[in-house]
Amino acid sequence: MNATADTVLVSGVDLLAWRRACLRDQPARRAAFDWLLDAAGGLPWRDLQALVLQPERSVPLAQPLEALEALWSCHCRSGVPLQHLVGRVPWRDLWLDVGPEALIPRQETELLVDLALTLGPGQGRWADLGTGSGCLAVALARAWPGSTGWAVDRSSEALALARRNLDRLAPAGAVAVLQGDWWQPLGLQRGRLDRVVANPPYIPSIVVEALDPVVRDHEPRLALDGGGDGLAALRQVIAAAPVMLAPGGWLLLEHHHDQGAAVRQLLQDAGLQDCRSAPDLEGHGRFALARRSSMEHADG
Ligand SMILES: C[S@@+](CC[C@H](N)C(=O)[O-])C[C@H]1O[C@@H](n2cnc3c(N)ncnc32)[C@H](O)[C@@H]1O
Repeated sequence: MNATADTVLVSGVDLLAWRRACLRDQPARRAAFDWLLDAAGGLPWRDLQALVLQPERSVPLAQPLEALEALWSCHCRSGVPLQHLVGRVPWRDLWLDVGPEALIPRQETELLVDLALTLGPGQGRWADLGTGSGCLAVALARAWPGSTGWAVDRSSEALALARRNLDRLAPAGAVAVLQGDWWQPLGLQRGRLDRVVANPPYIPSIVVEALDPVVRDHEPRLALDGGGDGLAALRQVIAAAPVMLAPGGWLLLEHHHDQGAAVRQLLQDAGLQDCRSAPDLEGHGRFALARRSSMEHADG
């Protein structure tokens, strides 16, 4: 195996010894360490594990061991998320830019895209409320070529990050980013949106305080804190959905694992139809969807 201009060649023996030394005092953090090797070192886990059988082989790394160790030490010392130190994360089939400006996209949120795709055609106009890194907007714009999307966030810092991801990964001109409060910047689209996704902040304030410091101290409070019962943002998003959705248009939401019944009730109280929940990989209800009646007038 040869090094290229962008890689350094490291022997399997050296790499495995270095990895063991880095993890000596914290074996429970193996998964995070191997994630760093993959994301910042360019060494997928299967290639790392293969070295156990062939330690005499050499592998190319995107960065020298010293640089990777500096990232690891910084993470262990200061609690800065590895994703922030690396600056990107894998999400669906993409590598997204991430940073302290917005929530690090979570794997379970990928399901919100899949749920939206199960609803079939009719995706002409869509919106992503609380876009953060833009993960959902990027994925939907790629899945629905020719559609028109809007990515909304109150945070200008998050929107700048979303814009970067959209410019790099979505079809040109497919998504406009708008700063403001949930539906407010979308006034012109009243009654015309076929699909709206939102992963709003839904963690009760008291639970936010008890989160792992890696999350609590490094991810934006605006992205996490859903108020006293965690439902404050969900209430606002659901309340205006009946007038903002097109007749027959769908709203798809992510929520906390114990909010399924409350969110379905809010959707029903708002007059939306076909309310249902969907589970995450652990079987917890984490998503809710409902649609506006197709019999109503768009401006009703
Ligand atoms: C849980 S994060 C979700 C980010 C991204 N959609 C994702 O799934 O990774 C919630 C997002 O909602 C945004 N947000 C919070 N309050 C808002 C408001 N009143 N109006 C618009 N966006 C808001 C936050 O800035 C944050 O980016």
